[in-house]
Amino acid sequence: MSNALAVVNCAQVVTLAGPPRPRIAAELSELEIIEDGAMLVRGGQVEKVGSRREIESLVDKDTEVVDAERRIILPGFVDAHAHPVFAGTRANEFEERASGSTYQEIAARGGGIQSTVRATREATKSGYGLTVEDELKILLAIRRLNDETPLNFVPTFLGAQDVPPEYRSRRDQYVSLLIEEMIPRVAQEKLAEYCDVFCEEKVFTSDESWKILSAARCHGLGLRMHADQLSLSGGAKLAAELNTVTADHLEHTDAGGIAALKSARVQPVLLPGSVYALGSSRYPAAREMIEAGLAVVLATDFNPGSSPTPSMLMILSLASTHMRMSPAESITAATINAAYSLNRGGAIGSLEAGKRADFVIHDCADYRELAYFFGIEHPWRVYAEGRLILTRNQSATDERR
Ligand code: NIG
Ligand code: FE
Repeated sequence: MSNALAVVNCAQVVTLAGPPRPRIAAELSELEIIEDGAMLVRGGQVEKVGSRREIESLVDKDTEVVDAERRIILPGFVDAHAHPVFAGTRANEFEERASGSTYQEIAARGGGIQSTVRATREATKSGYGLTVEDELKILLAIRRLNDETPLNFVPTFLGAQDVPPEYRSRRDQYVSLLIEEMIPRVAQEKLAEYCDVFCEEKVFTSDESWKILSAARCHGLGLRMHADQLSLSGGAKLAAELNTVTADHLEHTDAGGIAALKSARVQPVLLPGSVYALGSSRYPAAREMIEAGLAVVLATDFNPGSSPTPSMLMILSLASTHMRMSPAESITAATINAAYSLNRGGAIGSLEAGKRADFVIHDCADYRELAYFFGIEHPWRVYAEGRLILTRNQSATDERR
């Protein structure tokens, strides 16, 4: 039994093949597309991508053949920044923002992250916890998602997303709790690979962020940062100083911050969903970052407050319409570059021999349609490690083919 799967008759196989490192500058535009291509998968891995004829010549009687019917195939998107475990919604705050309140005003009156913390602490499942037990629970929930779903989650400890209300008048004690109790336990129980801090005016100062991230590094965690999201608070510079793996958001980062990220080779993770949903027009300076040679990543920031979307396709659309990233650059940022930012670049993010067969057959005839159509989801078949995990039948665009 060969346990093999051949996907044939693809209008385009978008491979993202290339050097084994994050892509920069003009490389972001090089998708390495095989027109009229096909792919052979065996044992959950990509065995070969090539022309239809090449792959069909390798098909034997035990190979399952999937006819893509002139659709396109891409590596699965890699969402390198999301907050997927939380309770409740914040549709009420969304409504308040529609009538003029800002995200910061809502947070100052006890809403915002704090309202998700309250809802999550009360729920049996955890998330936005900000206590030792609640934060461990969120990470255990992520571990369960890893064990019980076909998706792969890379856990990040974010106990420093806000100062909980019970510590507001003694914030240094919360910083100590993070450093002395939470981070050591998270590291010891191997519940996270990374530690993140929300470095922002009225949240964690640069000094506090430095202390928290330095402690995380001592415990073997990789470092990421919510930086310069709502104001220019020195986040990008601190990320460079600490040599974090990523600096995320960067809506307010200036030229000096971009230069600092470049010299420390920090990967920017841009999150246009949160700009859009907060009704702002201050998108991060993606073009300047690409021109500076940064290995840009795009992600959803999926969370109940600032970015209630899990759709990577929506993010591609926003990147092209508001950040002047081409569809090709956006796809690279959302696949191979994202994979490298999670230390998974050798295993996922492109369709190359030996990589995990995580791929999607999208209901399009050209990769640019992924960013061009918006508000519709294009996946027709989704595969994880060579196994079909999601199917969608007939679609509006079928007639075109
Ligand atoms: O990435 N900035 C911090 N964290 C989230 C917002 C979380 C929330 O509002 O619940 C973000 O935008
Ligand atoms: Fe975030």
